[in-house]
Amino acid sequence: MPILEREPPKGRRESYVLPKVPVPPLKQTLDMYLTSIKHLVKEEQYRKTKSIVEKFGEPGGTGELLQKKLLEKSDNTHNWVYDYWLDDMYLNQRLALPVNSNPAMVFPKQDFRDHKDSLRFAAHLITGVLEYKERIDTRALPVDYSRGRLAGTPLCMKQYYRLFNTYRLPGLKRDTLVIHEAGSTEQEHIIVACKNQFFVLDLVVKEKKLNEMHILTQLEKIVKMAENTEERQPSFGLLTSDGRTEWAQARDVLITDSVNRESLAVIEKCLCVVCLDDTSGVEVGDTSRALLMLHGGGHEKMGANRWYDKPMQFVVGEDGVCGTVCEHSPFEGIVLVACTEYLMKFMKSLQDGEATNVSELPTPRRLLWKTTPDIQDLLKASAERLQRLVRELDMDVHKFEVYGKEFIKKQKMSPDAYIQVALQLAFYRCNGRLVSTYESASIRRFHEGRVDNIRSATPEALAFVKAMTDEKTSLSDSEKMKRLWDAINAQTNSTIAAITGMGIDNHLLGLREISQDIHMEVPEIFTDETYVASNQFILSTSQVPTTVEMFCCYGPVVPNGYGCCYNPQADHLLFSVTSFNGSTETSSAVFIEALDEGLVEMRDLCEKSNKPQSDTAAASKAVEKSQGAGSKPLSTPQKTGK
Ligand code: COA
Repeated sequence: MPILEREPPKGRRESYVLPKVPVPPLKQTLDMYLTSIKHLVKEEQYRKTKSIVEKFGEPGGTGELLQKKLLEKSDNTHNWVYDYWLDDMYLNQRLALPVNSNPAMVFPKQDFRDHKDSLRFAAHLITGVLEYKERIDTRALPVDYSRGRLAGTPLCMKQYYRLFNTYRLPGLKRDTLVIHEAGSTEQEHIIVACKNQFFVLDLVVKEKKLNEMHILTQLEKIVKMAENTEERQPSFGLLTSDGRTEWAQARDVLITDSVNRESLAVIEKCLCVVCLDDTSGVEVGDTSRALLMLHGGGHEKMGANRWYDKPMQFVVGEDGVCGTVCEHSPFEGIVLVACTEYLMKFMKSLQDGEATNVSELPTPRRLLWKTTPDIQDLLKASAERLQRLVRELDMDVHKFEVYGKEFIKKQKMSPDAYIQVALQLAFYRCNGRLVSTYESASIRRFHEGRVDNIRSATPEALAFVKAMTDEKTSLSDSEKMKRLWDAINAQTNSTIAAITGMGIDNHLLGLREISQDIHMEVPEIFTDETYVASNQFILSTSQVPTTVEMFCCYGPVVPNGYGCCYNPQADHLLFSVTSFNGSTETSSAVFIEALDEGLVEMRDLCEKSNKPQSDTAAASKAVEKSQGAGSKPLSTPQKTGK
């Protein structure tokens, strides 16, 4: 049954209905699963997996029983996969939020003349946030419609309603996504972080909303208060940068004291956190700004001037390093982009202005903490673990300027599919194999839809990357071009399947989780090494396009993996690549180099194939001559110890 997406809001906007996320047919998912892993595992392992999968899917078998239960769940809930997915993707995960989970949007570098300029920017940004929040609360945001593939369908807007009224509470085994009622009066403050201190900035005073100049006045007071070293509190924000279980344990210690309990309660209910950062002292390039957003540079820089549990956290650095750091569980990058683009456009109206000294404005409150030697030890341990993350992260933000998505469209290919194939080529060049790959596919066409996975390491992609490397000299250009088309078509078809609710990852997850709901032993298909390995996404990718100058980035999801966020623009492609220094199998710089090389070769191949026949033959001969022997995977990446 389709579901009414939104209540007709006070008669102003039309409601619309969205279908429920479908449960794909069992056989279809199992067949697609086998196809997706066959070329990624050894033959013997594949044979074993195939027999496990066939047993699971046989008539009257476990698969059919679980499928029936899943269909019943689908009948009885708005979205059968939502909770399973949220727990699996976020709330059950125990790794620290910075780098491992929280993505960041990096704004263009701002040219602040002085420290006052940065506060003006912050005050204006907060005003923009309040305007946007007002639109959310009054349900005045225009409904999003799908673009690109299968354009024109209305999309679920629920994620917007979770931007400012949510909080990820750490738990010993599982975190909780706390959702405050929209427009709640408890949520009339923001938290301002300055010099690792946390201040409460009330936005409504004596039932009147503060205007921008009032906010500026309050920010100026906060900066002065933060400078007072006598009243300085320990850096409690560090605890939120720790592993989730460690933070939950520390929180249990903290809340035995009423002062700490009250400070936590105020933070947990705020609209957002605004981090006023000091000058970072680092060279302000794209990569260094992205690093400051992801982990703050550690406890000695800005890493403690954060509260990582809060979904919306804006950073305004005195040196112009600005952006947003997000706790990811309530919403996807696309919603974050819509919100931040609104704010960036709003920021264009920033004008000079002076703080208005209004005597009746109460002084913002500094949050107080009670420490004990035990708590000091916890803070020290969190600081050390954050430092380890900082040392580990290997990041490279790269603008590929040879061409952009317009060139790809001219080839009558999907830019997204093309970029995904290029990423496979880069990985193969670096490692001589393909690996389980994740590409997020939006399922917002469905009620409360979040994402499913497009498994981009297709057999067709493998055939193509081999044609461009191992078999480079033995294959003709027309064969290479045919394989490129096959790879693009396979990727495009997987994309369509995923965005129309026919992806396999959510379905398999649902079957696994429902077996637990009915207290069944975990079926062998989910303990099989192939399933476990296929959920280790060594290549974790996501398209996050923007229409204003800014970019998104995030970390890898496994120790030997890459995080690759890309932003296709008309005439260039922006890539943020991350990996960990501790892995000998990865290097962000080497990956970028291979990506650049592959993108150029793919363009050359397309251009040669577009030429009239006689030209093509001559061109391919010339190219083959100039390129010499077939290229091998790039040598093992050398770490450049940072
Ligand atoms: N020939 C010419 N043009 C083509 C084409 C073809 N064969 N195929 C696609 N195009 C065009 C599209 O019409 C579109 O045009 P537009 O820029 O004018 O809108 C453009 O190329 C882009 O399309 P494409 O590259 O195919 O990708 P997409 O926009 O459909 O995006 C996904 C594909 C998977 C990225 C998208 O469906 C999605 O799910 N996005 C969300 C990802 C997400 O959640 N990210 C955040 C995670 S935190």
